Amino acid sequence: MSRLNISLFNFLLFFYFVKTTISSCPAGTIQGHDSNTCYKLSTTPKNFFDAETDCQPNSSGQCISVTSSNSQWSSIDCNTAQYYVCKIQATVDSCMITTCPTNKPVIPDTTIRSITINDCESGWTYYNITNLCYKVFHGFNCTASEAICVQNGGHLASIHSFEENLFISELAQAGYTFGNDNPWGRYHVLIGLMDPTLNGNFYWTDGSPYDYPRWCAGEPYLPDACTTLVADQDTGGCFQQWVTDAEERVHRAFVCQKSSIAHICQN
Ligand SMILES: *[C@@H]1O[C@H](CO)[C@@H](O)[C@H](O)[C@H]1NC(C)=O
Ligand SMILES: *[C@@H]1O[C@H](CO)[C@@H](O)[C@H](O)[C@H]1NC(C)=O
Ligand SMILES: *[C@@H]1O[C@H](CO)[C@@H](O)[C@H](O)[C@H]1NC(C)=O
Repeated sequence: MSRLNISLFNFLLFFYFVKTTISSCPAGTIQGHDSNTCYKLSTTPKNFFDAETDCQPNSSGQCISVTSSNSQWSSIDCNTAQYYVCKIQATVDSCMITTCPTNKPVIPDTTIRSITINDCESGWTYYNITNLCYKVFHGFNCTASEAICVQNGGHLASIHSFEENLFISELAQAGYTFGNDNPWGRYHVLIGLMDPTLNGNFYWTDGSPYDYPRWCAGEPYLPDACTTLVADQDTGGCFQQWVTDAEERVHRAFVCQKSSIAHICQN
């Protein structure tokens, strides 16, 4: 009997090492080399016929030969009681075949995203650098122009960079080349830079900092309280630069600015 015990131990050892990580065999059985095959080791010796009967009922299994001490086969009397091994078809777990999903399921994205679009009411032009709206009006002196801009919800335009100066200049230009008839003309464009005390302390009527002086040569001329942008070519050589003018002077145009309107759009 001790020889048989060693034989069974060797057998168990053998199966221990060939067992793979796949666990699709019924409880109490061991998986073989072939992942589709499971083995059940008996704990009670039986003769061939009883062993065969024991192996049959629960599965499509059949008996295989009994081992000898060195794991080789030998023929024995079928009536001798021996330990035995049942071979059983493994249950194939569908998840072990290639049809199993390898990626996480895609969950529909129901997040509501919103984007804010700024624009302007009809007749006003949006400028994305300042996020403000601009409109050209005509025919008033600078104090009256500022008052009209305030009535429209804004102020005379302020300018803080080369790009803003170019934008407002192009927005307000008439498209003519003017002469220099009435010193500095009446066809310039009033902007919001003022010095009512006539001492050089210019300020923007919208309260923004005076941080980008764009004066033409010889400017500012301090006896003047108001500022114009030379938006059209003229013979004075101050194209797209600033010149002052008297408070009572009515110029061709003035430019108002005001806040843009934020539209929140959701998808
Ligand atoms: C077959 O089923 C019986 C009763 O459930 C059990 O005692 C026996 O060990 C099973 N045989 C195999 C080979 O699984
Ligand atoms: C403003 O608009 C111009 C022209 O569409 C674009 O090139 C620029 O990137 C925009 N700037 C900003 C700050 O959105
Ligand atoms: C500016 O224009 C307004 C309205 O036309 C007028 O009442 C005011 O007196 C003018 N200011 C100057 C300094 O001329």
